[in-house]
Amino acid sequence: MSDTTPGDGSSGTGEGTRAVRAGLPEPVKHEPTLPGPVFAAHFHLPGDPTGPYTYGRDENPTWTLLEQAIGDLEAPGADGVETLVFASGMAAISSVIFSQLHAGDAVVLPSDGYQVLPLVRAQLEAYGIEVRTAPTGGDAQLEVLDGAKLLWIESPSNPGLDVCDIRRMVEAAHARGALVAVDNTLATPLGQRPLELGADFSVASGTKQLTGHGDILLGYVTGRAGEAMTAVRRWRKIIGAIPGPMEAWLAHRSIATLALRVDRQDATALKVAEALRSHPDVTGLRYPGLPDDPSHKIASQQMQRFGCVVSFVLPSRERADAFLDALRLVDDATSFGGVRSTAERRGRWGGDAVPEGFIRLSVGAEDPEDLVADVLRALEESAL
Ligand SMILES: Cc1ncc(COP(=O)(O)O)c(C=O)c1O
Repeated sequence: MSDTTPGDGSSGTGEGTRAVRAGLPEPVKHEPTLPGPVFAAHFHLPGDPTGPYTYGRDENPTWTLLEQAIGDLEAPGADGVETLVFASGMAAISSVIFSQLHAGDAVVLPSDGYQVLPLVRAQLEAYGIEVRTAPTGGDAQLEVLDGAKLLWIESPSNPGLDVCDIRRMVEAAHARGALVAVDNTLATPLGQRPLELGADFSVASGTKQLTGHGDILLGYVTGRAGEAMTAVRRWRKIIGAIPGPMEAWLAHRSIATLALRVDRQDATALKVAEALRSHPDVTGLRYPGLPDDPSHKIASQQMQRFGCVVSFVLPSRERADAFLDALRLVDDATSFGGVRSTAERRGRWGGDAVPEGFIRLSVGAEDPEDLVADVLRALEESAL
């Protein structure tokens, strides 16, 4: 059996270097660079049941390497940080929220966050936990923070792309004894490192740009090792929302190209946003990388990259549908972050407070000029 102890192969300083080497074990002669997925429900375990590998719901060597890789990107060089992988982003989110909160506690959620959060809210309230909400923009969550045990931030928010001042929020929350979790899905760890901004947890869906091919569901939590992370690990065991070894291995393989993908996709997203800015039928354009975006100032202080999602509003639901129909290089599909561009009329789900003509466009790895031309052509054709 190969030695799957993670090596220090990620110690190169550049982000691209770290991404390609993240979580790789020390080289072993005749073994692959990234060991293949370990398919095991149980491991040989004579005598006392001690780790590292006992039962497949608790640990798996393929997760160990992936967790090391994600940790290397979320908190490079940090000691005492732990990462846990999950079956989906929601599994990761729920594991933090439900492991930290108990009846009688209060939590602050964003009112403009991912559209499953209202379902989480209903469940929390059913368990006797007080839920307060406020918008991401303007750091409005601070106004309802007193007495809360957990502050949940989503910055940039999905789909509105508002940004809050994470460092400021963390300072205020910690001063009141609250823990802070940041949903880092949209930024990816190459776009934003919440632990360095002081947060206790960085939580994300790995389904999106982290893995980038639209073919895996995955989630993770990175946090400071200690009581809070022990509770998250315990919750993963209770709930059993673990990734399959194949998904974990595919995710690790995909992380090697993360820097290439985010550089390409995020740069093209800016070009698409710039092209949309001057179109007379486009309103409400949001992209944190645009210098005149309301989020740009704070985003440029705390983010290294601004993400691959651009949001905007077309005059009506019919116009938005016609635009989506006219696109040739952009699939009408939900989710975001993949190498193939996708877009959707977000209002079709009914969960977000957005206008009927609101479009969320996820920019892929196509040639920028092809994508910009396709978007502009679809805008013209849909106006007819
Ligand atoms: C910001 C954000 N967080 C969490 C999730 C949930 O992730 P998953 O679909 O992997 O459960 C999503 C999914 O769209 C998301 O956009």
